[in-house]
Amino acid sequence: MSSWGSQSDRERVLEATDLIQLIGEHVALRPKGREHVGLCPFHDDSRPSLHVVTHKGNAFYKCFACGAAGSAFDFVMAYHKKDFAEALRFLADRAGITLTPRAQASARGSGVSRADIRQANAIALDFFRAVLAAEGTGAPYRKLLEERGISVETIEAFKLGAAPDAWDSLLKRIGNRGMGREAFLAAGLLKRKEGEDRCYDAFRNRLIFPICDETGAPIAFGGRKVAADDEPKYLNSAESAVFDKSATLFGLHLAKRAIIDAGQAIVTEGYTDVIGCHQAGIANVVGTLGTALTPRHAQYLSRLCDTVVLVFDGDEAGQRAADRALAVFFQAPVDVKICTLPPGLDPDDLLRLPDGRSRLLEHVGAAEDALVFRINRFQREFEAIESISGRQKHAERFLQELAALQFGSLQGIRKRHAIALLSSRLGLTIGEIETMLARYRPRRAPAQGASSAPAAPGDEAVQPPAASEIAHEIWERPAGTTRARRLAERDLLSILIHEPSLGLEPVLLSDGTVHPRPLAPGDFADPITRRIADFVLARLGAGETFNMQSLLEACPEPAVRSEAGDLYFAGGRICSDEPDGPPAALARAVETLSNCVKREKYQRSVSTCTPEALDHEEQIRAVQEAIERRREQRDLSDAIAHNV
Ligand code: UTP
Ligand code: MN
Repeated sequence: MSSWGSQSDRERVLEATDLIQLIGEHVALRPKGREHVGLCPFHDDSRPSLHVVTHKGNAFYKCFACGAAGSAFDFVMAYHKKDFAEALRFLADRAGITLTPRAQASARGSGVSRADIRQANAIALDFFRAVLAAEGTGAPYRKLLEERGISVETIEAFKLGAAPDAWDSLLKRIGNRGMGREAFLAAGLLKRKEGEDRCYDAFRNRLIFPICDETGAPIAFGGRKVAADDEPKYLNSAESAVFDKSATLFGLHLAKRAIIDAGQAIVTEGYTDVIGCHQAGIANVVGTLGTALTPRHAQYLSRLCDTVVLVFDGDEAGQRAADRALAVFFQAPVDVKICTLPPGLDPDDLLRLPDGRSRLLEHVGAAEDALVFRINRFQREFEAIESISGRQKHAERFLQELAALQFGSLQGIRKRHAIALLSSRLGLTIGEIETMLARYRPRRAPAQGASSAPAAPGDEAVQPPAASEIAHEIWERPAGTTRARRLAERDLLSILIHEPSLGLEPVLLSDGTVHPRPLAPGDFADPITRRIADFVLARLGAGETFNMQSLLEACPEPAVRSEAGDLYFAGGRICSDEPDGPPAALARAVETLSNCVKREKYQRSVSTCTPEALDHEEQIRAVQEAIERRREQRDLSDAIAHNV
């Protein structure tokens, strides 16, 4: 990691980055005490487990559920799947910092990297925009956009473009740029002629709608046909290493802030719907890419807002799509509402009518809870059935459908609420509903829900074990160290991490003596704490303090990072719980640890000086006697201290 960028670049960038603001652009954060908390974007979080600390020069995040921890760089790398160099550039651009120029990485491997595909998309975007802007070639495309009422500002904001009516325009452009074709092929911008080495443009004679990641960088393109007899109507980039259709939302980079502010996301089905809404000043709108909303979309949106409104056409296809939305409602911690427009109208059509904007907002305001929406439809069908047995069958089929849609993955209050609703509407008891749902629970989660843990339906979702717990099992622990010692090591380190400056002063022990020169890393037996101690003690030994960013940077291993984050918080608790203040807490921790070390040495000497002579039982007895002796000593000293 340290081979990237100059030291001053990374420092300047870190200093200029407000971590709360950065993370807040991706996750809804709320203040809690001295920290900010939000749903962790690195696992399927259902409660706010992500803590963001910006206190006393520290700036880091830590998730208490999955263990993710790091600095602003780590966040950008993990969240946007960038490497360090990309993250550095991203944060520098964001902060308006010019990086020190350095030699371009010249030696490229033969494989196409994600960065190559991103670059190909960026080059293509410039090309498509230039085509749209070009005097002659662009004119018919500009005219089309104008006829649709898309303003020049909107063209700019969405970076719309055009692909000319030719087989080799982009191809020629690439020739001039001297960048390999492989990246463009991998990005789906070029196609290879079957059985030949020749390539041709994938997008020809189309209006181009760039599909961007959250940072606004193009990761794919949608191309709308211009000629009536072209097929398909919309041609989209194939999925690639940087483009996953089921996890991408059109317009997200422009809508994110508005979604967080409104606490609500409006999801439409088309590119032009998103564009029309934004142009009409309704900015919390994104679009799926010709697919239904997936649990991954919903999971993502749930980090920004509480409510997702799905806008559907009022026709039959729209109704069926609305039914499928229930699966999303059941699987993601977000309320899903269904907004039905008049049959045959999409938001873009509606917006072009007089009063379109207020009519659209009215429909959105009248959106119904997805489950209520489905139950209402069920009830209409139910009431149309005459026979009791017919009704019974219909109710069972309905519950079967709900179970198949992962009703069982609903959690806590939401589940109880849904069951109560079903019970009152279907005229069945809660027990009956539960029995029927249990009977129909699916064996396996559908493939769609692949990203979320396939929790057994009907059970509460199991929280993933804390990463630090797993980590501690994987990391080998030396035999013969006690739990007491590991706790003492943690306590001591956590105080030093929370209040590093304390480590620069001599430690005054409770008996009035001064602790001899600080502990050495060798005093830390647990391998994870020892990695952290290596860093902490080296810095303190050099007379310097440090912050969490630098500690996390020095420890790339996830288990160590997670533990370092935990220690910071533990240190905060210990220091604030200590009535005599942090220095007293440190003194106590130093004493406890050195006592543990001494005790272990003593116990080892007990067992090693009599290798064969003592069998297991005798060893235990010897240790117990040693403990007894210490207890007596302590009782005695307590007695003296209290003048008994
Ligand atoms: P629509 O057919 O409703 O198109 O498809 P639209 O967005 O209203 O576009 P206009 O107004 O006719 O120009 C909705 C969405 O479905 C996807 C696109 O994302 C489109 O925006 N789609 C549609 C495709 O991916 N391929 C297609 O062939 C058609
Ligand atoms: Mn349309």
